[in-house]
Amino acid sequence: METLANGIAEFLMSEQAPQKQSQPKSPPTSSKMEKLVALCKRRGFIFQDSEIYGGINGFWDYGPLGVELKKNLKDAWWHDIVRCPSIGPDGQLLEMVGLDCTIIMNPKVWIASGHVGGFSDPMVDDRETKQRFRFDHVMCFVHPNGDDAPIFAFLSDSPSEAKRKKQATKAFGVEPKVIAYSEIKNAAQLAKVFAPEAEKPGTLTEPRQFNLMFKTYVGAIESEDSIAYLRPETAQGIFANYRNVLDTSRVKVPFGIAQIGKAFRNEVTPRNYTFRSREFEQMEIEFFIHPATANEWYKFWRDSRFKWWQSIGLAGSNLQLREHDKDELAHYAKEGAGTSDIEYKFPFTDPGFGELEGVAHRTDFDLRQHAQHSGLGDKLKYFDQDLQVKLQNQGVPKDEIDKQVKYFPHVIEPSAGADRGTLALLCEAYTDDPGRPSGVVMKFHPRMAPIKAAIFPLVDKDGMPEIAQNLYMDLRKTWNVQLDVKQNIGKRYARMDEAGTPFCFTVDTQTLQDQTVTVRYRDTLQQERVNISQVRAFLADKIGAGAGG
Ligand code: GAP
Repeated sequence: METLANGIAEFLMSEQAPQKQSQPKSPPTSSKMEKLVALCKRRGFIFQDSEIYGGINGFWDYGPLGVELKKNLKDAWWHDIVRCPSIGPDGQLLEMVGLDCTIIMNPKVWIASGHVGGFSDPMVDDRETKQRFRFDHVMCFVHPNGDDAPIFAFLSDSPSEAKRKKQATKAFGVEPKVIAYSEIKNAAQLAKVFAPEAEKPGTLTEPRQFNLMFKTYVGAIESEDSIAYLRPETAQGIFANYRNVLDTSRVKVPFGIAQIGKAFRNEVTPRNYTFRSREFEQMEIEFFIHPATANEWYKFWRDSRFKWWQSIGLAGSNLQLREHDKDELAHYAKEGAGTSDIEYKFPFTDPGFGELEGVAHRTDFDLRQHAQHSGLGDKLKYFDQDLQVKLQNQGVPKDEIDKQVKYFPHVIEPSAGADRGTLALLCEAYTDDPGRPSGVVMKFHPRMAPIKAAIFPLVDKDGMPEIAQNLYMDLRKTWNVQLDVKQNIGKRYARMDEAGTPFCFTVDTQTLQDQTVTVRYRDTLQQERVNISQVRAFLADKIGAGAGG
C-alpha cells in the first residue's frame, strides 16, 4: 500500500466544494493542496484514519505535530472564550462557563431539536452503479436548444465533469449548457439523464431524504426502543443543561456556555481533506440574552469572532465575514437578528470561500422546544431578577412586571469547527520557498505553532550538548520545545521549517565564551544573539500570553 499516495488520493477523491454559499468553481485539485497533504502526511500533521486497512472515507487522524496544532487552537479558544473573556457591548465583563456533555444523549433531545425529523439532505441513488449523490450537487450538460437530446449528469469539479462534457459536446456537436439536475421536472426528460458514472440513461431514483445522524443502540437489546444517536452538534448538550448551569453557577442573563467536543455526521460525500469529515470537533458557544438585546449581541459576537480568527494568524484577504441572505437562514433564525459565516479561502475553494464558523441568532427556538418536549414548560424560563428591580424602580405595575420578568432567553450561537480551523491554519501557513533546503516553510502564528522553539547544540561536543539540554529542560516546563542534536544544522533548520517552528536557538562556540545563543527567526531567517538567561523572556514576549502559547 502506498501510504503517501493514499493521503493524496483520499484528498483527490474528496473532490468537491463546500456546501454553503460563496461556492467555488475550482479545479478538482490544486497543486498547493496536494503539496500540503503530502507534507501533512510526511511530517505527521494528518494521517488517513485506519490507513493500514485502506482507510475509511471521511475520517482523519492527527499525528504528533497535528495534535499539537489542533490543541493550540482549542486551548486558545477555551482560554479566550471561557477563562479570559472580553468585555461585552454592555461594558461588562462577559460571563462565560464551560461544559463537557456526552456524545450519546437521550434520543428525545434530537426529537426536540428537530434533528430526527429534519437533519437530512435529499439524495438520489443511481440504480446502475449503486452510487448515491446529494440531489443539489448533481449538475447536467444539456443541449442548448434540443429537447430530444440525451442529458449527461455530473458532479462539479469531479472527474465526471470533464468526461461528461466531452461526451455531451461530441453528441450535440455544440457546446453544452449546464443546468442543475433539480431543474428537470418532466418524466420524459428525466428518463434521458445519464447518471454521472452510468452507461444507461434513466437510472437515477427520485430524491429521498437521508438522515445524517449516526444511529446506534444502547444496552444489550437492539430494538426500536434502544436506538440512540451520536450527536451531530455539541449545541444541544448545552441547551439540555441550561437549567443545571443556571442553578449551580450564579450566572445571570446575559451569559454564555461553551463546549468543545466531537460531533458526527454521516456526510454523504465527505470531501476536501478534513473540511467535510464524518467525525469532527466543534467549538460552540450558546450565549443567552434578553430578547430585546439580540441585535447588539449578534453584532458583538459576529465581529469579535471574526477578529479572533484574525488574531491567530488568518489575518489577510483569505478570511471574510459573510452575512446570510434572508432565504439562506435556518428555520429557527428567520425572525432573528441575522446569521453570518466566517469563511476562509481554502486552496480547494479558491476563488470562493468555505465556512469556518457560523454565528447565528437562534432566537428562543431550542429552549422552547426542550421546554415542550421535556414537559418542563415554563420551568425552563429565566427569572430576571435584575429586570424586576429595574421595573419596580420605574414604578411599573406588578402584573406588568410579572409578565416581563420570566422569559425564554434568546440565543446567539457562534459555532466553529476545530478541524476546519486547523485546516485553515495549515493552508495559511504553507509557503513555498525554493531558497530553503526544505523548499517549504510553515508560517504558523507563534501562538499556534506546534513546536514553539528548537534548541540545537552546533556540534555534539565541547559541552554544547549539556548547555542545550539545560536550556531545553527549562523551556519545556512552559512550552512545547524540541532538542535536536542530529545531523548538520542546515538539516535541523529544514526540519523545523517544515514543522513551522518560529524560533531556533543554537548553542555554539561563542556561547562557551559569553553565554549567548543564536536565535534564528523562521520567517525572516534573520539571526541575532540572545543571552541564555534571556531566552525565556524572549519567547514569552514573542509568543504572547494565554493558552496555545
Ligand atoms: N450548532 C450549529 C451547527 O452545528 P453547523 O454550521 O452545522 O452549525 C458548525 O456547524 C461548524 O462545524 C461549521 O462552521 C464547521 O466549521 C463545522 N462542521 C460542520 N460540519 C462539518 C463536517 N462535516 N466536517 C468538519 N467540520 C464541520
